[in-house]
Amino acid sequence: MTAQEFLGKKKYTIHNQTVSESCPSNIALIKYWGKYENQIPANPSISFTLNHCKTNTVMEFLANEPFSVQTFLAGNEEVKFAEKIEKYFRNIEQYLPWILQGKYIIKTENTFPHSSGIASSASGFGAIAKCLMNLDESFSGKTSEEESLRKASFLARLGSGSACRSLYNGLVVWGESQVKGSSDLFAVQYPNDEIHDIFKDFNDWVLLIHEGQKSVSSTVGHGLMNTNPYADRRFQEARENFEPMKEILAVGDMKSFIKLVEHEALTLHAMMMMSDPAFILMKTGTLEVINKVWNFREETGFPLFFTLDAGANVHLLFPNAGSEEKIKSFIESELLQHTQNNGVVKDVMRF
Ligand code: DP6
Repeated sequence: MTAQEFLGKKKYTIHNQTVSESCPSNIALIKYWGKYENQIPANPSISFTLNHCKTNTVMEFLANEPFSVQTFLAGNEEVKFAEKIEKYFRNIEQYLPWILQGKYIIKTENTFPHSSGIASSASGFGAIAKCLMNLDESFSGKTSEEESLRKASFLARLGSGSACRSLYNGLVVWGESQVKGSSDLFAVQYPNDEIHDIFKDFNDWVLLIHEGQKSVSSTVGHGLMNTNPYADRRFQEARENFEPMKEILAVGDMKSFIKLVEHEALTLHAMMMMSDPAFILMKTGTLEVINKVWNFREETGFPLFFTLDAGANVHLLFPNAGSEEKIKSFIESELLQHTQNNGVVKDVMRF
């Protein structure tokens, strides 16, 4: 979308305004890892949007004051975050021409523990982009819900790639792929009527294996793909994985779903291990959990499996399909012990 196409309308009148928005986090099943200039993904990705892990944001705009941004996270002033947002706002001025014409006070809080290592950039930039669209509509007139969401997704992407997927519920695709309407510029919802019911009632329990700062930021991580000799093959594989994924989702093929999702997670970590410099983000606990999950599945046949983001925490995925109580008690009795402080965030997919 060019700035002109994005704008559609040109006239705006700014005034003081406070808006508030909430946005959930998401967990990728086919991973985005590697990007080009202007936040264009090197391959398409698909994610589940979560329900409880959210960012709530209040944005106060003081019109005609010199441009500045002040941010508070859970009541504490965060100067580093404010610098990041300031840079982001300057970057999107071409799409929101009023954006540098005032002062911002942004108060934000996450519903998940701050130290958990759960990425807050997706929900955080999602909530900020929604706030910006609210302001934009208040200054230059309402647009349709559909257009407003698409623009919020476009803006969120420029803050953090994975954030663009958090604007929609259910399964969400970002990046040009076989999925109808998909784009590199914003995310789209995967068509609900092409998803088997088994995938519509899903749990994501995040085991907090290692709390605290990640050892590689996603910006650095994506950058490592520029020199990774396996990068092109990986991008191609991710694109190819959409073909079986579509079939799996349509027919409810849980076995193949599990295989594909775990393969994606391990590939992401394999890419990091083969980068220069190399990163091993899994901890002992991560490996213990993965092995126990595999043994459990082998012994019981119950559909418990995992995915990982760029860190040590394990996202345990399982459907509500009859065996969930047994799976939950297995997690409590066998897997929780591998977390740092008995830390687990119990979430579900948001449909
Ligand atoms: C491993 O969206 O955090 O979670 O665009 O640089 O902000 P930036 O990166 P980010 O990367 C997410 C990477 C991932 C996989 C995914 O969510 O698809």
